[in-house]
Amino acid sequence: MAAAPITIHQPRRLAVGAGMIREVGAWAGETTSVLVIATPITAGFVERLTLSGRVSVFDAIPGEPDIGTLDAALAAAHQAKPDLIVGLGGGSVMDVAKLVAALWDGEQTLSDAAGPNRVNGRNTRLVQVATTAGTGSEAGIRSLITDPVKGAKIAVESPHLIADLAVLDPELTYSVPPAVTAATGIDAMAHCVEAFTNRRAHPMIDDFARMGFRLVGKYLARAVNDGADTEAREGLMLASYYGGICLGPVNTAAGHAIAYPLGTLLHLPHGLANAIIFPHVLAFNQPAAADKTAEVARALGASRVSSPGDVGEVAKAFCLDLGVEMALAAHGAKEEDLSRYATDAHAIRRLMDNNPVDMSVEDVLGIYRAAY
Ligand SMILES: [Fe+2]
Repeated sequence: MAAAPITIHQPRRLAVGAGMIREVGAWAGETTSVLVIATPITAGFVERLTLSGRVSVFDAIPGEPDIGTLDAALAAAHQAKPDLIVGLGGGSVMDVAKLVAALWDGEQTLSDAAGPNRVNGRNTRLVQVATTAGTGSEAGIRSLITDPVKGAKIAVESPHLIADLAVLDPELTYSVPPAVTAATGIDAMAHCVEAFTNRRAHPMIDDFARMGFRLVGKYLARAVNDGADTEAREGLMLASYYGGICLGPVNTAAGHAIAYPLGTLLHLPHGLANAIIFPHVLAFNQPAAADKTAEVARALGASRVSSPGDVGEVAKAFCLDLGVEMALAAHGAKEEDLSRYATDAHAIRRLMDNNPVDMSVEDVLGIYRAAY
């Protein structure tokens, strides 16, 4: 059976390599006002952008940006009246930068723009400079903002959110601590794997996914052990980018749906939440995608796997060897909260419906219990 047709969006220009952040200024040329969206940590890289003109920095971006975060960033843009917006950070920063670039000078609100293909347009150029290797947000057209009242993610998806220039500079990730490197690397792997075994999988995206999960298998331990290993850091930035490509036309599935309540309700970092859930979903889905799951297991270092239990053990050992604490209980989860998480995760149909095996609320609860 032929795969369903897909459309792939990629940044208009992609700069890859150590030191490439310094190319941003030359690419941008003369600018009057630049707004850099960052965190207090990544704001330290602003000088390396070599920008001209007036440069304002908005660095109040938390781990899980919510509607209030976006409103504050939009207010900063109204003040700066930028002709260029730079997202300088991880997925949270880049997701906010996308929406600020598209919405700051128009009439649309976040709720007007929520959903697929509802953004009217964009007048301001957008550069995305990734400072972690995990989200792949620099590659794509989707932005996720938390609604703090509903405890759920609002997804905006539009070709108008694509970057004019994306930069993958491994030097920016040297200082990412080992634990964050491990968790974000597993997140990149999860993007690739969940697209690979997806109900909407596509042969072209499958090959981006293969490149991505093989790079994570090859390089993640090296980058965790030596943060300044340029080759490993660059390999992970590519894996993250390939994962971002996978997110566009295919997207993730049950793994991310089950990880989301751990972010919105338990406030775990996105990468860590995905790392904890990853082995359990890989094992759950194994019967429906045995060949593809075996490919993933080989990338994780297994010589052969034959059962869901094997696969789960291989993936969990991979994560534990990287130093990830894999027990939800150790991260402050309460057993009595697991059923709320399960109800919430099961309701994220935009991802759950992509999973190769249907999951009931009880199946989801079983995964939280196994991870507990
Ligand atoms: Fe993710």
